[in-house]
Amino acid sequence: MDIVLSLGGSILPREATGLRRTAAVLASLARRHRLRVVVGGGQLARDFIGVARGLGATEALCDELGILATRMNARLLLSALPGAHPGVPETYAQAARARENPVVMGGVSPGHTTDAVAAILADYVDADLLVNATNVDAIYTQDPRIHPRARRIRRMSHRQLVELTSRAASSAGGHTPFDLLASKVLQRARIPLVVVDGRNPENIRRALTRNPPGTVVGGSERRPSSRGVVGRGL
Ligand code: UTP
Repeated sequence: MDIVLSLGGSILPREATGLRRTAAVLASLARRHRLRVVVGGGQLARDFIGVARGLGATEALCDELGILATRMNARLLLSALPGAHPGVPETYAQAARARENPVVMGGVSPGHTTDAVAAILADYVDADLLVNATNVDAIYTQDPRIHPRARRIRRMSHRQLVELTSRAASSAGGHTPFDLLASKVLQRARIPLVVVDGRNPENIRRALTRNPPGTVVGGSERRPSSRGVVGRGL
């Protein structure tokens, strides 16, 4: 399968043992699948953006700092992945053309997040599946940190995901593990999404099984292969 992984910056380990463990899972997936990883900016991005904002920087400049942070995180992960494509692609075309497997990149241009980059890349390379490894265990009907009655969602359609993320985007402080632009891009391209808790990297492997943990979006057209994973039935 052709897989794009959006690896949240907040779950990327900042010490060697944890990074090796994450990299080992990615390397083993890349032995069976075509894997492209988009790494987020995490605390590094937030720190730089916070200081720049305090200095009165424009949002576009803050985004550029965020992008540099995502590329630093991508570079760090690459240090633990000896067989991977050696550079950090800065465009979708570069990521699509890279021969080695896996490919690791960060942000591309100001104005969105790495979830959107991962969704656009998935569309660009016509991927079978996007996996979002994040710091919560699933998508919920509402933000569970604010709403104790929020329900965990096991399966949903792209349309439901877009509705949920636009509701969150228009409410102050609303937050979903996957953002609105990324959701719309996936809906348009009809690419399934699995959202898993990436704090345990084994969940990234489990995302490709018949019964993935977390939330499955748009996976009703099941891939009729022996692997039985969620996919687009190509
Ligand atoms: P992230 O994708 O890590 O954003 O990019 P995030 O929403 O803070 O991620 P979570 O909450 O950890 O999942 C960090 C920042 O880099 C800029 C944005 O400012 C973003 O908030 N960025 C990233 C871009 O402007 N363009 C990109 O293509 C990627």
